[in-house]
Amino acid sequence: RARTLPRLTLSPREVSDLLLLGVGAYSPLEGFMTSADYHAVVREARLASGLPWTIPITLARTPEQAQVIGLSAEVALCDERGEILGILQVYDKYRHDKEEQAQQVYGTTDTRHPGVESLRQAGDILLGGPVTLLEMPPLDALYANYLLHPRETRYLFQQKGWRTVVAFQTRNPIHRAHEYIQRCALETIDGLLIHPLVGATKADDIPAPVRMQCYLALLDHYYPENRVVLSVFPAAMRYAGPREAIFHALVRKNYGCTHFIVGRDHAGVGNFYRPYDAQRIFERYDAAEIGITPMFFDFTFHCRRCGHIVSEKTCRHGEADRVFFSGTRVREMVARGESLPEEFTRPEIAEILIQAYREKRH
Ligand code: ADX
Repeated sequence: RARTLPRLTLSPREVSDLLLLGVGAYSPLEGFMTSADYHAVVREARLASGLPWTIPITLARTPEQAQVIGLSAEVALCDERGEILGILQVYDKYRHDKEEQAQQVYGTTDTRHPGVESLRQAGDILLGGPVTLLEMPPLDALYANYLLHPRETRYLFQQKGWRTVVAFQTRNPIHRAHEYIQRCALETIDGLLIHPLVGATKADDIPAPVRMQCYLALLDHYYPENRVVLSVFPAAMRYAGPREAIFHALVRKNYGCTHFIVGRDHAGVGNFYRPYDAQRIFERYDAAEIGITPMFFDFTFHCRRCGHIVSEKTCRHGEADRVFFSGTRVREMVARGESLPEEFTRPEIAEILIQAYREKRH
């Protein structure tokens, strides 16, 4: 029947949202947001029902494209190859309040913010309504085997006998500071879910297939066999800082996790957010309504004087004693083929990054 319906081609971000809606990762959402939910989320950081939700999950079209789609119509949702992936029942068509959304969700209307820029490019009309996922969108072969849906991770954690599970969201290779935070969490929690985001990211983030090799190296060489699960999170990155931290936490609850790591500048970009905004936003909600416990970590780094990884909370020495590089600096170093110090990253991971950049150049 889907083949007989009018078709809409989804962007990569919309494809990943369709997938995540279909598998229940975005529960309680059942489709792209209708106007009541959209406005409540933008303005109150809650759904119209009052439940916490911070990121609009929307399907945007130009007015011309939206005009030909009738209310209560069904449309087939396709990817850019023209494959039908699902069906949308159009319950609502409404105006995309881009300015207000940018200001409320990203805290800025500056188009240097990648989220604001993608909003600027999006259509002016939003289509809302429930979706049915018919086909799994194809994933990169390098990590397709690591895709687990909420029902599967919940089953896995139960099989492993984990009563508590901490999730680690990331869009970067795992460096020593990340590893330290994960180990700290794992000291008191039964299991760790490393849940790297593999949907669309900004162009200069390290590609997911390369990151995947880094995560596997860490598991192979350093982590205990039975305490860590690696699985991919096929969402697109929004760079919405604090709002995205709540969203990331709620979604990981759906995957069956009980705890969620929020460190320094979670889901941040440039200097758009203050380093701990993504932790403070949790104060705006009751712990019970969030339903997953955030684990907050201060800025962590290697301190030469202490001789190990510490945080601003646990070390008395100054910045001159720190071994730490920003993501931009790391990319510059590996692009020049410079090795990364062992205090900053595991040698196996440095090697993968340097190799990936070498291949990119040739
Ligand atoms: S994110 O955009 O996916 O949040 P990233 O992969 O850099 O970015 O970070 C993953 C998690 O680790 C986030 O919770 C982030 O706040 C935290 N984090 C990253 N680096 C550090 C650090 N040096 N100190 C403390 N927390 C950190």
